[in-house]
This record gives sequence, structure tokens and C-alpha cells, in this order.
Amino acid sequence: MASALSLLLSSFLLTPLANAQAFSGGARSADAFSYVQPLNTTILGPYGHSPTVYPSPNATGAGGFQEALEKAKAFVAELTLEEKSDMVTGQPGPCTGNIVAIPRLGFKGLCLQDGPLAIRQADYASVFEAGVSAASTWDRTMLYERGKAMGEEFRAKGANIMLGPVAGPLGRSAYSGRNWEGFSSDPYLTGLAMEHTINGIQDAGVQATAKHFVGYEQETQRNPIYNESGTLTDVIQESVSSNIDDRTMHELYLWPFANAAYAKVSSVMCSYNRLNGSYSCENSKTLNGLLKTELGFQGYVQSDWGGTHSGVASIEGGLDMDMPGGIGEYGQSPQAGSFFGKNVTMAVSNGTVDVSRIDDMIMRIMTPYYYLGQDKDYPSVDPSCADLNTFSPRSTWMREFNLTGQRSRDVRGDHGELIRKHGAAATILLKNENGTLPLKSPKSIAVFGNDASVDTQGYLNQVDFEYGTLAVGGGSGTGRLTYLVTPLEAVKARAQEDGSYVQQWLNNTLIATSNMTDLWNPEMPDVCLVFLKTWAEEGADRQHLSTDWDGDEVVASVAAYCTNTVVVTHSSGINTLPWADHENVTAILAAHYPGEESGNAIVDVLYGKVNPSAKLPYTIAFNGSDYNAPPTTAVNTTGQYDWQSWFTEKLEIDYRYFDAHNISVRYEFGYGLSYTTFNMSDLATECVAGANNNNITSEPEDLPIAPGGNPALWEVLYNVTVSVSNTGDRDGAAVPQLYVGFPSATTPSGTPPRQLRGFEKVPLAAGETQTVAFALMRRDLSYWDVVSQQWLIPAGDFSLSAGFSSRDLKLVGKLTPIAV
Ligand SMILES: *[C@@H]1O[C@H](CO)[C@@H](O)[C@H](O)[C@H]1NC(C)=O
Ligand SMILES: *[C@@H]1O[C@H](CO)[C@@H](O)[C@H](O)[C@H]1NC(C)=O
Ligand SMILES: *[C@@H]1O[C@H](CO)[C@@H](O)[C@H](O)[C@H]1NC(C)=O
Ligand SMILES: *[C@@H]1O[C@H](CO)[C@@H](O)[C@H](O)[C@H]1NC(C)=O
Ligand SMILES: *[C@@H]1O[C@H](CO)[C@@H](O)[C@H](O)[C@H]1NC(C)=O
Ligand SMILES: *[C@@H]1O[C@H](CO)[C@@H](O)[C@H](O)[C@H]1NC(C)=O
Ligand SMILES: *[C@@H]1O[C@H](CO)[C@@H](O)[C@H](O)[C@H]1NC(C)=O
Ligand SMILES: *[C@@H]1O[C@H](CO)[C@@H](O)[C@H](O)[C@H]1NC(C)=O
Ligand SMILES: *[C@@H]1O[C@H](CO)[C@@H](O)[C@H](O)[C@H]1NC(C)=O
Ligand SMILES: *[C@@H]1O[C@H](CO)[C@@H](O)[C@H](O)[C@H]1NC(C)=O
Ligand SMILES: *[C@@H]1O[C@H](CO)[C@@H](O)[C@H](O)[C@H]1NC(C)=O
Ligand SMILES: *[C@@H]1O[C@H](CO)[C@@H](O)[C@H](O)[C@H]1NC(C)=O
Repeated sequence: MASALSLLLSSFLLTPLANAQAFSGGARSADAFSYVQPLNTTILGPYGHSPTVYPSPNATGAGGFQEALEKAKAFVAELTLEEKSDMVTGQPGPCTGNIVAIPRLGFKGLCLQDGPLAIRQADYASVFEAGVSAASTWDRTMLYERGKAMGEEFRAKGANIMLGPVAGPLGRSAYSGRNWEGFSSDPYLTGLAMEHTINGIQDAGVQATAKHFVGYEQETQRNPIYNESGTLTDVIQESVSSNIDDRTMHELYLWPFANAAYAKVSSVMCSYNRLNGSYSCENSKTLNGLLKTELGFQGYVQSDWGGTHSGVASIEGGLDMDMPGGIGEYGQSPQAGSFFGKNVTMAVSNGTVDVSRIDDMIMRIMTPYYYLGQDKDYPSVDPSCADLNTFSPRSTWMREFNLTGQRSRDVRGDHGELIRKHGAAATILLKNENGTLPLKSPKSIAVFGNDASVDTQGYLNQVDFEYGTLAVGGGSGTGRLTYLVTPLEAVKARAQEDGSYVQQWLNNTLIATSNMTDLWNPEMPDVCLVFLKTWAEEGADRQHLSTDWDGDEVVASVAAYCTNTVVVTHSSGINTLPWADHENVTAILAAHYPGEESGNAIVDVLYGKVNPSAKLPYTIAFNGSDYNAPPTTAVNTTGQYDWQSWFTEKLEIDYRYFDAHNISVRYEFGYGLSYTTFNMSDLATECVAGANNNNITSEPEDLPIAPGGNPALWEVLYNVTVSVSNTGDRDGAAVPQLYVGFPSATTPSGTPPRQLRGFEKVPLAAGETQTVAFALMRRDLSYWDVVSQQWLIPAGDFSLSAGFSSRDLKLVGKLTPIAV
């Protein structure tokens, strides 16, 4: 402890940004304060270390926060130094994270709760569809509705802050264990999903937390390995370092966080990983530089739980709130203390840290609180949340918490209906031979697979038991189900309307090793519904991209005899589907994690009550080995800093990679079928009046920074329109997509051939035609120039491709903002 303290409080090196290439200068030792050894930059090369950016910028109130900031300032002025340290340090308490009350100022404290798809530590709350499902809808309205409904539940349970949504992991690797908590491996789609979700949550009066910032793309070695002594500073091997070059950072991983800042997100959670050698929660380049300066973020940075690895260095590096405070993840007792807490008081008292920095931390924490009106009539914390809190149970509390409100409030409202609607809208139809779907009153139905029915071990949080349908994944991003409609019960209920006969086999081993003709003897069912599942959870990356529990063998066995085999997957994300071309597999549906109304949602699609309109938010390749950028694993050396993950694929993740290298894929990004057909015609482009009077410059106008960054980047320059028709005989919804190709001669190499820059969910009655507009903003047509540290529009022709997936491109056009 003593050595930790002296390390913490030793002098602080302030190095100016050494060089304009952002991630290619500076010294790690200044940033990662708690480590003795600096990294060897000769070995690490051009971007294996992070430059320093000090001091941490004050909040300015830009973007409409001025009034709230003034209130926050007045609040801070009343605080003692001890209260100030309380305001920036978590405490064990009723919620996942807790900031204690200051009764003399009428401040009731802050309750932070997991997670991105449900208020997790709560009873009588809904479990919504996971991020990957929400993204699959490609529906802005639904993304907003989901955020709003979740926000209402968090608020009603007395949670001030929701720990979501997720834009990191983005989905660099198909195998990453937490991709499903976030939205899509495409930053544009994820960016809009973040924006609409945050707007929904915050319109309900709850603070949203954009997490995990940034470059958090694998679970393996996400946290350090500690010495047996278990103290926070006794580290054998540090977390994996995501080593990302400056352009890739801006165009991929930072991009959706820019949308989050633009949506005035209240908080950003820094991640577990190191970023170019320096821990995310003390990385001054990303926190002070990218987030607070470049993106004009006005809220506060909170650490992921146990992600703080220093005191002063983190404070100076831009971290504003240490969570969970005294309680680490690694078996430390709550009394172990925090890098913040009393250390903050001491560091201020002896002049190591200027109190103005602490004041800014608190103003950043309190600005969203006032902005969202949380000082007025905010519901109290439901005492049942404390009962369900396994993370900091009552026995660990060191401070007083008033839990006087009503216990076990039912906050679900009519959200079940919404979740059912969203679940159906998120179900992607990948194959539908000979119009096998929608089902036409089949007389005999056989249901197969351990994903079809109830969890035989009855756990309220989702766990990867052998038997039981998966509606969400595991870890802090899970939800506590109050009920779960299973596929089997929903199929049975629907089948009764037709008087059909339903039989089921749920034992995958039995199915995989049986001769089906013995099972269903004497008659082949009219349809065989096979339900497969794929588990993923925080803390572990996926080992393979197949379905779990011998799913491939189950399909092979059923399809060997059943000529109408319909496969449904409940999965965290990418599955390679080796049986997709099997002649007897007539339909495939990827339902991901649809939440508590799972069975009803899939039945709505199977029977055609809902016409599927979801699209893949990633690519399905032929083989697992076709994907690049696997997680970094199996580092066998024992050096403290040996976990280095080089993002050498740069911009080429998912479809950007497959397109750049002309690799055939099974189902491409943006793909998904409907029960009707669509056509697209008449691509037109128009320079939007007012876009600098058609005088488009390469550099954006230098406007004062607002949340989201330079407002000039968000200006719409072009309106691209297409005409979309429903050419079938059934109502449905199309998702026209716009991809942009940059002029190759004038854009730096490594630019992907096509990048998503527009999409719209368009409901169309049979025979209906609508004009669909895509607004292209300056940021959509710019690349990040590492030399000038600026977004630039290159001169020359941009190609536009519009279609119904990234490879089903119906129309092409061009734009020339700047002549060569
Ligand atoms: C850094 O690594 C290089 C190459 O292995 C080596 O020559 C050099 O001595 C190292 N520098 C330090 C300070 O350890
Ligand atoms: C933040 O504001 C305080 C109080 O006005 C000031 O003393 C301090 O220098 C400012 N910090 C920065 C980084 O501008
Ligand atoms: C200061 O930080 C160190 C490192 O975590 C911790 O061990 C110590 O308990 C903290 N001190 C207090 C008073 O919280
Ligand atoms: C600050 O206070 C701590 C704890 O009392 C002490 O260890 C440290 O040397 C002091 N630093 C300065 C710069 O006075
Ligand atoms: C708890 O409530 C009591 C009674 O209203 C009040 O006196 C006390 O200050 C409160 N304590 C906290 C920590 O809010
Ligand atoms: C689909 O229909 C075609 C033409 O009727 C037929 O040849 C083919 O076998 C059918 N495929 C399946 C899987 O039923
Ligand atoms: C599943 O089927 C296998 C193979 O028939 C059998 O060994 C196993 O006991 C069955 N499991 C259950 C839970 O019935
Ligand atoms: C499955 O059973 C059928 C009917 O008895 C038989 O024709 C077929 O050969 C069997 N398949 C295998 C792989 O044993
Ligand atoms: C498809 O089903 C038919 C009927 O049971 C069977 O004869 C055929 O072998 C199956 N096709 C394959 C590829 O297994
Ligand atoms: C670590 O060891 C494993 C098992 O021997 C091997 O497969 C792997 O390639 C090694 N990894 C590295 C980075 O050398
Ligand atoms: C176009 O914009 C640039 C930069 O704002 C300005 O210098 C130039 O005069 C403008 N040209 C016209 C024709 O408006
Ligand atoms: C884009 O075009 C559509 C269709 O003509 C129109 O409704 C919309 O207002 C236009 N948007 C802008 C920003 O000009």
C-alpha cells in the first residue's frame, strides 16, 4: 500500500503533444503513471504508444449545457474537499455503482445500473432485445423506442444512470465475446444506433453511458494478471494493448462515439484494455484529446469496473469518476480503498492535483444531472435492487443509503408488446427456398433442438445451460427475466389455430445421432423447425463461429430426411452456417438475442404476421478462417507488457475487408430477405442549398467545437434520392442502403472500396413506391488526414452505389464535391 501511495503521488510529467501524427509520438511512462518501466518504443514502432495531452479541458457548456453547467458550478462551490472526493468516487451500495448523497445540499446521490438491454439488478423489469438485434432492424424509430422504453424502466427504478449503449466492441473480430451487446461492425450503422438509443434513454430523463471507450475489441486478457497478493498495483502482466493508428481510430472506432457526443450523451465509460500502451482510463490522448477536445464532450468519463489503474495519472489523463470505487473485481475487500477517494483529498491538499481539475470533474458529473432535470422529483432507488445486488451486497456497504421507497415496483408497462414487435423486426430471413415461409397451415410440425424450449434449470439471468432457449447473452449486459416466451410454446399456441400436430425432440445428442425416420415414424412432418443457439458472454471470446451443442450435426441429421427443414438461430452474432446450401434446408432465420418475447416474435415471422425486413449488421463468410483480425491470444511470453494487439488490418474489418480483397461470402453485410420483392430506380443527387453555396471546400469551416466535434462536419452537403417500390403482392419494409466510394487517386491508400453512408427503413404496401432520401454530411465524405489532423474531402469523383445490401447494388452514381 505504501509503495502504491508514493507512486501515485510522485511527480507528474507533462509532455506536450510531440507530433502531429497523434498516435505516433509521446511517451507512455507519463500516461501510465503506476508503472515503473516505460515501453521500449523501438520495439513498438510507429503507433504502439500513446502521446500525452494535458491539461484535461474544462467543460464549456457548449451545445446547450450552459444553464446546467452554471447550476453544477453553484453546486460545486458548496462542497467541502471530502465531499468533492465522494463525488468522484464510487462506493459499495444498492446499485451497480453508487455516488453517496449529500443531504445538507439536498443531493440524493447517484445510482448507476447495468446494462445495455435491461436494468439488470431489478425485479419486475423487462428484458429487451440485445444491441445486435436492435441493429438488425436498421430502423431508427425502433432504436429510439427501445432506448426510451429502457430509460423509463431505469428511471422508475430510481437509476440515474444507465450503463449503455455499447459501441466498443465495434466488432473488429467476429469472435469477440461482447459484440452482441453493441450494434454492428459498421461504424456508421453503430453511430446512428448510438444516437437514437441515447436520445431515447435521455428523453426518458435517464443519463446514458456510451461504452467502452475505446478499442475494446476482445475479452482475452482484457484485465491485467495480478500477483497472488491481489493488490491493485502488483501486476504480472498488463491488459492487452489495442494498437490503433490515428486514421483507423477516427474512421472506425471513434466514429460512433462522435455520434454519442453529438447526441449529448451524459457519460462515457473508459474500457479495460490499454490503448497504444496506455490504459484507456488514464489515456490522456483519447480522453483529454479525442473525447473532450476534438469531440467537445461535455459530460464525465467513468471507469469500467476495476478499469482504473492509477490516481493522479488518471485524473490528469481525463478520468472523472472512479467506479466502483473501493470494490475491485479481483477479490479485494471494499476496504481496499480506491485510487480516488481519500487519495484525491490528499493529492489536492498537498498540491499534487489542482482543485480546479476536481471541480471540473464534478461539474461534468453534475451538468447532465441538471440538464436532464434529475434534481427534481427523481424516483428513489427501489430497495429490491439492493437485495439483488450481488456485486456490492449490504454487508459491504460502508456508508449510509436511504432505501425508503416502494419495494419491487413493476416498471414493465406494456413494453412486452414493443419487445415482441422489435424481436420480429430484428429477425433476419437468410434463405427462403420455394416460398416455404411463411408457413401455410402445416398439419404436422416437428420442433428440434435444445434452443426450442424452457430452461430446465430455471435461472432468471441467462446462463449457457444445455436446455433452454437463449434470448440474451451473459455477463453485465444480461437481463433478469421475469418471463420468457419460448419458441416451442409459441409454436404450439399458434399451431392450435390450424389444428396442427406438434411433436418435439429437444436433446441435440439424440437428434444428431438418430435416424430421423425412426423418430418421426411413420410420416415425415410438413415442416421441421430446428432451433439452434450460440452463447457469448463478457469475459471470454468465442472459440468458434459454429452454433453450440452440435448444432451443425443436428441440422445434418434432420435435413438428411426432412425435405422442409427450417433453421432458426438464437445467437450472439456470426455463425458460418455450413449447411446453408443443403437442398432440404429450405429456410434460415437469424434471430440473434430477441429478448423476453422471443417465441412470439419468431412465430410472427414464421407464420407471416410480420413480413421480415431485418438485415445483417455484419458479414457471414463461408468459413471461420475467412475472417481477418482474430483476437490476440496465446501470448506465451511472460513480459509485463507482452499483450500487444496490432490493428494492422486498419480500416479493413468485416465487409470492408471482404470487398477490398474480392472474397466471396455466404451472406453479405446488409443482406436479408422479405416475403415480398422490391425494386429501386432513379438515383439522383442534389447539392443541398446552403452547403456553403455549392462552394465545397476540402477542409471544414473552423467552427467553435460543440458536442460531436466541429459542427461543420455534421452539415448536410448532398441529398441523394432513390425511388423504391414494393413489386410483390404483400406489404413489407425495404432497407435501401447507400455506399460511398472515395476517389482513389486523391484519398490515401487503404480506403475501403465502399462504405455505408446512408440507409432507411421504408414500409411499403404492395405495389407502393416511395422516394427515399439519404443526407450526406461532410463527415460522410471526409477521410481523417493524419498530417493536417483534419477531416478532408478529397478532390475528384466519389462513386455512389445504392441497393438492398452491400453486394446487391442496383444503382450507381457519382458526386464531385471538388474538381480535381
Ligand atoms: C529497445 O529495443 C531495441 C531493439 O530490441 C534495443 O536495441 C534497445 O536497447 C531497447 N532499448 C531499451 C531502452 O531497452
Ligand atoms: C479550468 O477552470 C479553472 C477555473 O476557472 C481554471 O483555473 C483552470 O485553469 C481551467 N483549466 C483549464 C484546463 O482550462
Ligand atoms: C489510495 O490508493 C491506493 C491504491 O489503490 C489504495 O491502496 C489506498 O487504499 C488508497 N487510499 C485511500 C485512503 O483510499
Ligand atoms: C502529498 O501527500 C502524500 C501523503 O501525505 C505524501 O506522500 C506526498 O509526498 C505529498 N506530496 C507532495 C508533493 O507534497
Ligand atoms: C436519510 O434520511 C434521513 C431522514 O429523511 C435524513 O435525515 C438523512 O440525512 C438521510 N441520509 C442520507 C445519506 O441521505
Ligand atoms: C423447389 O422447387 C423446384 C421447382 O419446383 C424443385 O425442383 C425443387 O426441388 C424445390 N426445392 C425444394 C428444396 O423443395
Ligand atoms: C440425450 O440423448 C443422449 C443420447 O441418446 C443420452 O445419452 C442422454 O442421456 C440424453 N440426455 C437427456 C438429458 O435426456
Ligand atoms: C434410416 O432409416 C431408413 C428407414 O429404415 C433407412 O432406409 C435408412 O437407410 C436409415 N439411414 C441410416 C443412415 O441408417
Ligand atoms: C433430402 O431429403 C430426401 C427425403 O428424405 C432424401 O432422400 C435426400 O437424401 C435428402 N437430401 C440430402 C442432401 O440429404
Ligand atoms: C503459444 O503456444 C501455443 C501452444 O504451444 C502455440 O500454439 C502458439 O502459437 C504460441 N503463441 C505464440 C504467440 O507464440
Ligand atoms: C469558396 O470558399 C472559400 C473558403 O471559404 C473562399 O475562400 C472562396 O472565396 C469561396 N469561393 C466562392 C466562389 O464563393
Ligand atoms: C431531400 O430530398 C427529399 C426528397 O425530394 C426531400 O423531401 C428532402 O427535404 C430533401 N432534403 C434536403 C436536406 O434537402
